[in-house]
Amino acid sequence: MENRTEQLKKIKDEIVAAKNSPLYDFRIKNNFLPVIGEGDHYAKIMFIGEAPGKNEALTGRPFCGAAGRILDELLQSINLDRKNVYVTNIVKDRPPFNRDPLPEEIEFYSPFLIRQIEIIKPEVIATLGRFSMAYIIKNFGLESELKPISIMHGKIFSAEKVTIIPLYHPAVAIYNNSTKETLKKDFEILKSF
Ligand code: URA
Repeated sequence: MENRTEQLKKIKDEIVAAKNSPLYDFRIKNNFLPVIGEGDHYAKIMFIGEAPGKNEALTGRPFCGAAGRILDELLQSINLDRKNVYVTNIVKDRPPFNRDPLPEEIEFYSPFLIRQIEIIKPEVIATLGRFSMAYIIKNFGLESELKPISIMHGKIFSAEKVTIIPLYHPAVAIYNNSTKETLKKDFEILKSF
């Protein structure tokens, strides 16, 4: 059995070469990079965002722009180092104009995300925003629990193999201080893990 780094590298290689992706042409035309994920391959906590923005697509690193600075601040507020968690997105290439991911994009990239989860085996999945929340809640058999993020954020959902904690997307907190306070409060829950 290959080690985790090798298995994750295989995922990266497949995505880099995925000409059948609905976002492949847009990536190539703009000299963008796919954003696979980053962090501890043995992390207990995995954060799953939506899709790369421009900064991310230019560097190949998740959450390295304005939303990333908020994420770092939130991690710091509970004394968690980004190096000790794993951060990724449901969609691995940047959608044009930062629009919401389309269902076919989620469908294309989500099997890669599932493989990442199976390799890293986090105890906790913290979803960032409604798209990764809806996908993960459904995928782990909790569809009947699905409600708007305004109701689900900061709550703990136990699936068979993992605990799921839906959180607001940090980008919402860039210009909204009350969402930032809510996010800070919700992050406190992660401390116990
Ligand atoms: N927003 C996301 O959802 N993911 C990123 O990597 C950056 C911004």
